Amino acid sequence: MNTIKKDFWNATVAKIGNALNSYVVRSQKEEGPVLQQQDPTQIIKALKAESLFKSGFQKASEVLEFVSTYLDNTNHLHHPRYMGHQVAVPHPFSGIPDWIHGTANNPSSLYEMGPAGGALEGFMIHWMLDKLGWFQGKEYTDFKKYPNNGSGLLTHGGSVANLTALSAARAAIAPEAWTEGSPTDLVVLGPSTSHYSIARAISIMGMGSQAFVPVAVDHNEVLLVPDLERAYHKQIANGKRVMAVVANACATSTGLYDPLDSIGDFCKKHQLWFHVDGAHGAVALLSEREKKHVKGIEKADSLIWDAHKMMRVPALCTAVLFKNQYHQFNNFTQKGSYVFHSTEVVGMDSMPYTVECTKSALGTKLFWTFALEGEQKLIDYVEHCYKLAQDFYKLIEKQSDFVAPYQPQSNILCFRYQGKDLSDAFQLALRYQLIATGTFYITSCEVNNQRYLRVVLIHPDTQLHHLESLLDHIRSIAEKVVV
Ligand SMILES: Cc1ncc(COP(=O)(O)O)c(C=O)c1O
Repeated sequence: MNTIKKDFWNATVAKIGNALNSYVVRSQKEEGPVLQQQDPTQIIKALKAESLFKSGFQKASEVLEFVSTYLDNTNHLHHPRYMGHQVAVPHPFSGIPDWIHGTANNPSSLYEMGPAGGALEGFMIHWMLDKLGWFQGKEYTDFKKYPNNGSGLLTHGGSVANLTALSAARAAIAPEAWTEGSPTDLVVLGPSTSHYSIARAISIMGMGSQAFVPVAVDHNEVLLVPDLERAYHKQIANGKRVMAVVANACATSTGLYDPLDSIGDFCKKHQLWFHVDGAHGAVALLSEREKKHVKGIEKADSLIWDAHKMMRVPALCTAVLFKNQYHQFNNFTQKGSYVFHSTEVVGMDSMPYTVECTKSALGTKLFWTFALEGEQKLIDYVEHCYKLAQDFYKLIEKQSDFVAPYQPQSNILCFRYQGKDLSDAFQLALRYQLIATGTFYITSCEVNNQRYLRVVLIHPDTQLHHLESLLDHIRSIAEKVVV
């Protein structure tokens, strides 16, 4: 090993640890801006990227300078006034599995290439299946293949997970699609507010985006079951076959849940594949108080669940779960003889069932969130975030110059400032000007064709007083915004 590099290692590792620690602590204490955006050229210059690219780090101090400049140019998710996108605020020590993985580099999709990561993935999948009532073993360490067991795997993100689940739905109704191409009579029904990764998956699968049939939603963008029934009969009358029905748990924009129980009954009646996109909100399964929102989720044939949204796991880490294990096994029948075994081997390979070939040690990241604080802390965290959205809704109800269109069911809430200009452009301008101050980071979206401000209350230390202060900041910025 290059000795200079070895010296770097010895001299800098502890210091990088300190730099990261102070980054987290300062953010938690609300010191500095949540986000201060700079032009990319300025960032590259500040990082001294061009000279480092050519010659590499020469001194330990250069490494530290790089780390500190890099951290300055991040969106500070550890800041309690971060309430933006649905990206986990990790525990300060959540990065350790990424560090281990970055050193050992054991992709866990092939068991012999990452036994520890693969075993933890299997263990955590059992825990998730158990939450759905799809696990038949006695212990999560019971890796025997029970015929009635569900199955699942971890994958890099909800979009890949939706693709994986929809591909399995197609393999169930039209197994010949793998070799002969997709039949043209297949359609997928789902709320018009389905995440774009659903329509994208359908196009990637060669079905054409028109194969996604949007079902009408109510004024809060929740799927209307009678319209699902109507859409179904219309497609059948047109000679189509329904490959799957998709439901949101919860919707990306509003955080509201589709009526899973009734949709599940509908799918059962017509023998249709039921896919639940629980990327954000499947986590309600963990809470006795909040699980009412996912009533009927176990009626699904497939479910996706992002751990890098509400489980404090750093991106990316998503579970794709199947009630019937054979749906996973039959998904991709294509064989790569150098990796897939025809005889029994030690452990389990997820590679035959994933879109990815090589994947990170995702099970380790997911497991770590529990190892750090235990299961109850995660439940408390979810309940805190969900309740805070309720409290924020009540607070908004008391303001004459703000309005929220619905009572939240998760930790996401859309709202509008109506004290000045009612146009959509004004809400957008408000949001841009607010985040430019660095005081808060929030997002914006359309609900029922109207532009709203949007918070995702995802930081464990965000409290109601932060939201009171958010409303005050918006008011004072609104004075100056002109569109
Ligand atoms: C309902 C829903 N599904 C899927 C996704 C995509 O997940 P990912 O960003 O992990 O690809 C999102 C992301 O916000 C989502 O909200």
